[in-house]
Amino acid sequence: MSEPVPKPVTASTRLAAVWGAPIRHSASPAMHNAAFAVLGLDWRYLACEVEPERLAVALEGARVMGFCGVNLTVPHKRLALEMMDVLDPSAEAWGAVNTVVFEAENAEGVWTPVGLLKNFRGPVRLRGYNTDADAIVRSLREDLLMEPRGARVLLLGAGGAGRAAALRLADEGVETLWLQNRTESKAVELAAEIADRFPAVDVRTGLPDSDVEFILNATSSGLKAEDPIPLDLEAYPVARADAVYDMIYRPSETPLLKAAREAGCRTANGLGMLLYQGAAAFELWTQRPAPIEAMRAALVREVYGTGEPR
Ligand SMILES: NC(=O)c1ccc[n+]([C@@H]2O[C@H](COP(=O)([O-])OP(=O)(O)OC[C@H]3O[C@@H](n4cnc5c(N)ncnc54)[C@H](OP(=O)(O)O)[C@@H]3O)[C@@H](O)[C@H]2O)c1
Repeated sequence: MSEPVPKPVTASTRLAAVWGAPIRHSASPAMHNAAFAVLGLDWRYLACEVEPERLAVALEGARVMGFCGVNLTVPHKRLALEMMDVLDPSAEAWGAVNTVVFEAENAEGVWTPVGLLKNFRGPVRLRGYNTDADAIVRSLREDLLMEPRGARVLLLGAGGAGRAAALRLADEGVETLWLQNRTESKAVELAAEIADRFPAVDVRTGLPDSDVEFILNATSSGLKAEDPIPLDLEAYPVARADAVYDMIYRPSETPLLKAAREAGCRTANGLGMLLYQGAAAFELWTQRPAPIEAMRAALVREVYGTGEPR
């Protein structure tokens, strides 16, 4: 079947984007532009390198230029909490913003996503959401066949994505959660928050003293070829886990996933998480059901260069 041809860019084309630093690895443009094309929407999705000290300026620029939506990735998700006009309960609950919806008032004075409005005057406000947290749980279930409820989990990383995953896994009812982060104080702080909000969860910092059902990497170590494995494999051999999930999807097999595969663990990369967080963002911006299969196919092509993941 031939690929749908995107509409030509005109002065009416609606804009969305992902911002981060680094950003060149991002497969989000391929996924979202495929979705716009398949639905015949006159929208485009860009990727821009935005340094954290420029995030507030970039958001102001997008606000005045009529952007409809923005995704935020490393290292913006926590920072952006302070920069939103309104926080959706998802961003409040999971403590990070990965999706911004630009809103203006419609003719009845109701705040509406800008993407649904042909003409609008007056102020634009920024509403921050978190679509990562639900996406990670869905991807763990579908791609790794892992049920968080009652599981023992080692979570690596306590940045925006790690924090959202830790809180969401606690909400799912994991039995024991070990938090390990390069900067230990962040893991300690997050553990205290989980102990307070989810007293039924046994939360600890450092490496487990038992086997675990799965290890989840939410650090950015593995994005670059020279990055170290974010787990001391001598102190905690990866074979002590049944399965390993890495939120990184490019490279499609990080050194951690390779070690896990060689040790006989089930493995999955973060492509499924990217897909589900992106589909949720797409629906918030356009208020249309996301064409999931077209988005998945575009991601697989972009990341693996073929039709098949493995
Ligand atoms: N698949 C998806 O849809 C998806 C969604 C969200 C995020 N992600 C991925 O998840 C990762 C984290 O994203 P984020 O938004 O949480 O980023 P972030 O807020 O910048 O946090 C980065 C985390 O990585 C740790 N880290 C960085 N370099 C490290 C190293 N060399 N060794 C050990 N730990 C290191 C940091 O530890 P410190 O606290 O010590 O700095 C921190 O915990 C990124 O790779 C991102 O691409 C994927």
